[in-house]
Amino acid sequence: MANIERYFGQFGVNHYPPGVRPALEELTSTYQKLRQSPEFQRELNKVRIGSAIGPHPFPMIVRDFQGVVGQEAREQFLSITNGSLPEHVVACVASGSNAMVEPLGKSDELGQHAATLSYGRPGTLHGARSIVLQQDDGAPASVSSVASGLVYPGIGPEIAMLHQTGRLSAAAISDEEVISTFFRMAKFEGIIPALESAHTVAFAIRLASQRPLSERILVNLSGRGDKDVDYVLENYGTGVSSL
Ligand SMILES: Cc1ncc(COP(=O)(O)O)c(C=O)c1O
Repeated sequence: MANIERYFGQFGVNHYPPGVRPALEELTSTYQKLRQSPEFQRELNKVRIGSAIGPHPFPMIVRDFQGVVGQEAREQFLSITNGSLPEHVVACVASGSNAMVEPLGKSDELGQHAATLSYGRPGTLHGARSIVLQQDDGAPASVSSVASGLVYPGIGPEIAMLHQTGRLSAAAISDEEVISTFFRMAKFEGIIPALESAHTVAFAIRLASQRPLSERILVNLSGRGDKDVDYVLENYGTGVSSL
């Protein structure tokens, strides 16, 4: 239950800064009105790809829009810590709008995961050259992950470049770790994370156990898990015994 200041859970989190709320409400109500119009739907279909993939300008559009999250996170971090930045920033990645923990799915065998940066090689997918999980003949490999939003055999070209030049490192998290983290977050933080985002939290917990206490980790929770609750309950029950 949220208290009056919108803090949740045993340790307390705030879902969004109060200043952002009016803008979100305005955006939602404008979209609800516009989506009735066939003309708007036609325009929307041209840009519906929704991630930092495909040919220019899609990766740039998504990167620039998503960049607002990064800029605000940076500002908030600076103000909370009186002017310092985190040692680590962690986020999940399918194709790269927020980057960099990958889905290891059931195993590291081709077809059983969707960890493109970790196991892919250069190739072409959806009109752009990047790193792709592919079969011997270059056809895209089948991919698997408990998080439907991460089931993609490619990666945005800019993320591939950042990875190749060593500015971004990728880690992979299995479905099993994701499900256990999903339950832990719900219990200890009062947040149901998207299964995509549970990858990120699982890795942050692993990283925290390996790094000195003085280092700070900024975790990007990319989405809400209400969309995943039915799937998790049907396939994993309530998870109480696993905690
Ligand atoms: C909650 C959530 N987080 C992350 C992602 C992955 O985003 P991207 O493909 O831009 O890396 C998705 C994709 O659908 C998602 O639904």
